This record gives sequence, structure tokens and C-alpha cells, in this order.
Amino acid sequence: MVSRVIPVDPFDLVIFGGTGDLARRKILPGLYRRFLSGQMPDEARIIAAARSEHDDQEFRDFVRAAIDEFGSPEIQIPDQIDAFLDRLSYVTVDARGDQGWPELAKKLRKKVVHAFYFSVGPGLFGDLADRLHHYGMADADARIVVEKPFGHDLASARELNETLARHFDEGQIYRIDHYLGKETVQNLMAVRFGNILFEPLWNAQYIDHIQITVAETVGVGGRGAYYDKSGAMRDMVQNHLMQLLCLIAMEPPSHFDPDAVRDEKLKVIRALDPVEPAEIVRGQYGADEDHADYLADVEDRSSRTESFIALKVHLSNWRWKGTPFYLRTGKRLRARTSEIAVVFKDPPHSIFGPQEGRRGNVLVIRLQPNEGINLRVTIKEPGPGGMRLVEVPLDMSFKEALGPDAEDIPDAYERLIMDVIRGNQTLFMRGDEVEAAWAWTDPVIHGWEERGDIPRGYDPGSSGPEDALMLMHRDGRRWREVKA
Ligand code: BG6
Repeated sequence: MVSRVIPVDPFDLVIFGGTGDLARRKILPGLYRRFLSGQMPDEARIIAAARSEHDDQEFRDFVRAAIDEFGSPEIQIPDQIDAFLDRLSYVTVDARGDQGWPELAKKLRKKVVHAFYFSVGPGLFGDLADRLHHYGMADADARIVVEKPFGHDLASARELNETLARHFDEGQIYRIDHYLGKETVQNLMAVRFGNILFEPLWNAQYIDHIQITVAETVGVGGRGAYYDKSGAMRDMVQNHLMQLLCLIAMEPPSHFDPDAVRDEKLKVIRALDPVEPAEIVRGQYGADEDHADYLADVEDRSSRTESFIALKVHLSNWRWKGTPFYLRTGKRLRARTSEIAVVFKDPPHSIFGPQEGRRGNVLVIRLQPNEGINLRVTIKEPGPGGMRLVEVPLDMSFKEALGPDAEDIPDAYERLIMDVIRGNQTLFMRGDEVEAAWAWTDPVIHGWEERGDIPRGYDPGSSGPEDALMLMHRDGRRWREVKA
């Protein structure tokens, strides 16, 4: 692996829930990759803390198996894995009792960064914060990392913020939205604010509309119980799609620093209009030959939770008044793809005559898979026969354009954990941002609950319910195809 990375400061990272699913799939294999890339200093230590009884060796075996299962073939390097595992240890800790806490406190070294990753349900955040404080680990330099879901609505998010604020300042709290750790999501800012080309056109005068699509092929899997209480609006729109919308719509911050960026994102969330019921389409996937339907997956035949949502959103500010944002996300769709399409207005007049029509440019930012940027432009069709116009893509796949450098793109979690150690909060959500996002989401959800809205069915492998297509058709627009 090519390494141009600078090691972060020495650290002790404690992962509460260190034997959980997220730790196994993402956090631990990700940390190993950072170790391989040279970003993790020799003095780094990772301590898993969880309720079950294990010793260090059992935990290391668990991590070895996780790397084997979730790491790519080229990172399966036995000596390196051994060297990484040497940095790992395990403590049995009871989040709601006293067991293990003094031992954990003793393990932490002086003069290194202390980070505590709460990879547990939000119901335990308060207990963990209280005990870290009680056992003297919540000092002014400590950092805590919290996973989503950050609340279920505005009231619970506020309560969580207040709970954490009892022992930690805002500058110590890292609320993860893993979409912000994705390479192309950060590239959104580079494209917008590193080029002069787009910014003058980046407003309602030139942009007809924006589409944000996050489509998945998977169903709710083994997470039915959690998912059915959330639905696509809480699980994806309130956080991930909202963050994408913020980065697309925000004003240029004065600096790329945490508060400057987050202040601008907050203004976007606060400028969102309430959503009209007619501008929301919710759906639930049906069954196919290989898979059960949504209702069977969540084991509740009367569930009205959505596994798909499409909505049309407006922003009331000078830049965006009149340009709708169409958002959609869902499970069991045709392809796994996430993209943002910025659809520019047609030129005001076609000098080539009415038969050639007027064609708008489209800028597509592909988040996954095959990260890249595509700009659709109009050119002359080659050859004789007069001025016939065609549209061609100026297509840039980051992998092709950047070669081997693009191969070593860290996964979202790896990057975000390293940012925690570096003390950089730019890619983490601030408490007021999360609350503002819930303040906009809550009435939308209450609205459909009060109306007794029933989600429409859709076929697995489709692009969602028919009505979602209509949401754009009736505005004379169409969604881009859901394809990988
Ligand atoms: C999570 C949601 O936050 O994001 C999941 O809870 C979803 O339901 C996942 O599948 C999607 O993330 P990614 O990185 O695979 O697009």
C-alpha cells in the first residue's frame, strides 16, 4: 500500500461495544487499515470494553477473524496483523454498574490522546458519560464519539445532548454521520469551493432542480426491530441525505474549519420549508422469489413504516428560492447507488433552431460505487449534415483519474476516527445541527402519522413506488435512472 500519510498523535482509544457488529465490520478492520497505511503511531493502543467476559487473547482472535472476513485480500498480511493485534486489549465493563471501571482507568496512559467510542445503543450514552466522569476519565482533553441514531425526535435528541453536556463540552463530542466520512462527500466541498467554474451558476437562476438519490439493494436484514421504529425518514433522510443537501446548498464558509462549515450547514437546515403532504411518497418493498417482503422482515404485518421515501423539498433563502430538491432513498431497489444530480436550466434561446431544442447541463456527483463526477455537455454531432447537436458526458472516475492514489481511499469510519484523534470536528455533526434536523423532520413524520398514511408497495429491484415517479413527472421532470 502506498503511504503518504502522517501519523497521528499517540492515543488510547476505548471502544465501548468493542465486540459488537459495528466494531467487527467497520471500526476494527478500519483501524487495522490505518495501521497498515502508517497513520497509526507505535504508541497507539486500542482497548475494547464490553459486558461479556473475555481476555485479551480472545478479543485478538475475534479481531483477527473480523479482518479476515471484512478486510480485502491485499490487507491479509500475517505479520502486520500480529503487530496490530499487539496494540489491542480487552476489559470487561458494566456500563450500568461498577465492574471494570477502575481497571479501565488504570489502563489509560498519561500524555496521550484519550478517545472513547460509544458504539452502543443511545440508551447507554448517559451511563457511560457518568461513569467516565466518576472514575476520573472525563478530563478536559478526553473525546467521546457517538453513533447514530442520535435521538428519535427533537425531544430525545435534546435530552441526549443535555446528558452528554453534563460532563463534556461540545468541543469534546464527535457525533458520527458516516456519510460525511465518504471521500466523494468531501469532494463535494472541493468541487464547489476549489473551482471558480460552478459557484457563479450555483443558484436558483441557473439550476432547475437537484436530485439526491441513495438507493440500496439490501433489505432491512437482521435490523428489523430497530428499522421498523425508524423508517427511511429517520434512518437516512434526517441525517445522511440532510448532510448531502447541506453540502450542496450551503454558502461558502470563510474557512474549512469546524465551526465555519457547521454554521453554514445549520443555516441551510433552518431555511428548509415544511414539506407538503402531496410532496411525500412513502413505500414498502414487496416480496420476490428470493426474499420476503418488508412486513415479514420486520415481523409485523400491520407496520406502516416506510422502507422507501421520496420527497420534494424547498429552501427559503435568496440562493435557492424556486429550485426544488428532490430526495429519495430506499431499500431493495434496483441497484446500490448514491448520487447527486445538479440539473441546470436550458439555455434561454437555441441559436441552432427549434428542431435542435435547448438542452441543460447536468452535473452528477457519484458517491458510490465508482466515485466520480460526470458533466453532461452539448456538442456538435461529428460529420457532415449541418449542425446537429448531441449530449456527451465529460466523465471522470476518480479511480481512473487518480490511479493508485484512489485505490487507498480510507473507508468513512477510518477517516473519521483519525479525525477524532487529530481533534478535527469538521466532519462531525454539532448538537444544534442535529436538533435543527429533527425540528424539520418531526412535523413531517407527525403529519403522516396523523393522516394515517399507508406506504405504497413497490417491487423489489424497481426504483420505488410509481407515485415517486409522478412526484417529478407532474413537475415536468424525471428522476435519473437507478443504476450502478
Ligand atoms: C446506515 C443506515 O446509517 O447507513 C442503514 O442505518 C444503511 O440502514 C446505511 O443501510 C447505508 O450506508 P452506506 O455507507 O452503505 O451507504
